[in-house]
Amino acid sequence: MSLEQLLAWIPAGHPDVALARQVNFERLPAHIAIIMDGNGRWAAQRHLPRVEGHRAGIDAVRDTVETAARLGLGVLTLYAFSVENWKRPASEVGTLMQLLKRYLRSELNTLLTNDIRFRVIGRIEELSPDIQDELHIAIERTAKSQGMLFNIALNYGGRAEIVDAARRAIESGVRPEELDEDRFAGFLYTAGQPDPDLLIRTSGEMRVSNYLLWQIAYAEIYVTETLWPDFRRRHLLEAVLAYQKRERRYGGIASAPAAIGAQ
Ligand code: FPP
Repeated sequence: MSLEQLLAWIPAGHPDVALARQVNFERLPAHIAIIMDGNGRWAAQRHLPRVEGHRAGIDAVRDTVETAARLGLGVLTLYAFSVENWKRPASEVGTLMQLLKRYLRSELNTLLTNDIRFRVIGRIEELSPDIQDELHIAIERTAKSQGMLFNIALNYGGRAEIVDAARRAIESGVRPEELDEDRFAGFLYTAGQPDPDLLIRTSGEMRVSNYLLWQIAYAEIYVTETLWPDFRRRHLLEAVLAYQKRERRYGGIASAPAAIGAQ
């Protein structure tokens, strides 16, 4: 996609037009990963139950996915439910799963219209059969899309993923001397995908929370105070613009302007 695709979706005269025009489409992050945090605080500020924060968070998901697709990102990964989130009250877990199910049903057409391919990363087989069915429908229906890959991290843990990858490597019969970083990455849930160039976390917390631990080795980290339910197109554009001002070194010395060689 392109500036035109993005502008076609922003009302003329809207302040986001100026932001969109500043984006360098030659230097987009190939993959953006987001830790969607702050739903509970958003609800608490309004004296609402926590689940209302998750419900409001769906609007942010919708806006972010469409903005990312129109920008022309290769991959967007949203952290929807971690392996640790089972510790939350059963009613909250149940609501999160139902919201996900409803989101997939109501947004499938938007995903298809925007040529988005949907995938799930995490231990899907531990989810209830109805959720698994819903996920498989969305994965299959969008399998031929050629545009952005949209991963939802669900029942996901970075350490669990590395353990699962190690198990798969062993099962594959790969010999220890054949195993290097590239080969190992091929056993991760994200096999074949570029690593995130940009990791965004909302609500101001400075943690990576067991998210994509292997893949974020060289990611630029962008933390915003905005609570996830308030996150919109503007915030994603601001994060991309901040990323494009960064100088990426990959452990070397500064030699290139911001984000050059980010792929
Ligand atoms: C963190 O907020 C957010 C989550 C644990 C869940 C995020 C889920 C959604 C936005 C809805 C479903 C997602 C999709 C992709 C359809 P928190 O509850 O930890 O907030 P707090 O830190 O303020 O308590």
